[in-house]
Amino acid sequence: MPEDLHRRDFLKKSATAAALTAASASRVMGANDRVNIGWIGVGSRGYFCMEQMYKGNKEHVQVKAVCDTYTGNLAKGKDRVQTLGGNTPDAYNDYRKILDDKSIDTVFIMTPEHLHHPMFMAAIAAGKNIYVEKPLAHTIEQGFEMVHAWEKSGKVVQVGTQNRSSSLYKKAKEMVQAGMIGDCHFTRAFWYRNSPNNKPAWRYDIPPDANPSNTDWDKFLGPAPKRAFNLQRYYQWRLYWDYSGGISTDLLVHQTDITNFVLGKTTPSSCVASGGRYRWLQDDDRDVPDTFGAVYEYPDNFEINYSCYFGNDHYGYGEQFMGNNGTIEVISRKDLYFYPEPHGDPAVKDRPEVHLNGPKDFGEQDGIVPHIKNFIESVRGNEKPIAPPPVGQQAAISGHLATLSFKNGKKVLWDDKANTYHFS
Ligand SMILES: NC(=O)c1ccc[n+]([C@@H]2O[C@H](COP(=O)([O-])OP(=O)(O)OC[C@H]3O[C@@H](n4cnc5c(N)ncnc54)[C@H](O)[C@@H]3O)[C@@H](O)[C@H]2O)c1
Repeated sequence: MPEDLHRRDFLKKSATAAALTAASASRVMGANDRVNIGWIGVGSRGYFCMEQMYKGNKEHVQVKAVCDTYTGNLAKGKDRVQTLGGNTPDAYNDYRKILDDKSIDTVFIMTPEHLHHPMFMAAIAAGKNIYVEKPLAHTIEQGFEMVHAWEKSGKVVQVGTQNRSSSLYKKAKEMVQAGMIGDCHFTRAFWYRNSPNNKPAWRYDIPPDANPSNTDWDKFLGPAPKRAFNLQRYYQWRLYWDYSGGISTDLLVHQTDITNFVLGKTTPSSCVASGGRYRWLQDDDRDVPDTFGAVYEYPDNFEINYSCYFGNDHYGYGEQFMGNNGTIEVISRKDLYFYPEPHGDPAVKDRPEVHLNGPKDFGEQDGIVPHIKNFIESVRGNEKPIAPPPVGQQAAISGHLATLSFKNGKKVLWDDKANTYHFS
């Protein structure tokens, strides 16, 4: 890993690149210009985010092309653009066609995790602005390549860690900065889910018509190890290490990311993870755990205790920022609670509890609509992305460290100066 990427350099260069990014975007785009978009991946996330993008930015965007390697999703994506955008986009199964189109300035990469790196690197080389879903990349090393490429490009990039744009998490950050919880050395984060025995976690329904002629297996594999066509792997890719880090990079990264945001942290100094496939063992060839725990130490006397289990959702999901004078918890992305700490500073311990409610319909919209809007406005030269690649990489590093610790059965130490890890 390159020696010159010391942490301060990393942040300084990133700040410079971000400034360049805003400057170059404003040079090329007038306030009334539309952002011309190529949409890569119209699966469950891609379809949802496309709708959220139109909600917040309809008059400023035009989706000129969509791409997907399953014809069913490609058709759905094209139809959605026609309905919501009022134009007929080109439809491709090869994303490079989108990159070749000079009239497209911006791409959304909404494909499985292992494809983020090749698509991002090709898109940045083609001079596109990019919204890329989390995790930034499938490995730490790929993530740094992407950060470097972005730094050199002057392009606008947003990573899909949308909680940073949620008003509730922004409020939590403000409350922490205002001193409401005092010193905070400990955060508990958790994500619990459940489903019936016959609906195993992440065994999503496979479209009944899916077959090798309408599902481009080779393009799905991309840089992953070659294998024979397999519908489960294509449509349930989260269950296999070749394409996903499982809980670590799918769910955990959101929660370490938002802890970093709320408490002003960056990367941990160590991680120990454990867990396994405890629930779905029979007739299930999944690689990734369904039960997972990770403990992170940070350099400045701080720890995150993380847990995830797919067999009980009584406690839902959220983060509890446990300060010496109070606790703030954000639950299911739609409720924020503040509790004063009975053993805290006598001057503040009698403050009233607080309960704030996010949007009632679906908590995530509180984050995703403004997150995409922030990206579009950044491309238009009016804002700066709240989750540029260095921030996405910090979040992804936590996820990858957990996977490395779990797979190797060892504590893993992060060297923030050399930007590399070793096992203790
Ligand atoms: N930010 C969040 O809260 C959040 C939530 C869910 C998913 N995600 C992320 O979104 C991404 C997509 O996840 P998903 O749940 O939509 O998966 P999905 O399997 O539902 O969709 C992936 C889509 O990509 C298509 N695809 C596969 N290979 C392709 C290729 N080479 N070229 C073009 N299209 C290709 C598939 O046909 C499918 O339509 C992942 O990175 C995931 O981590 C983020």
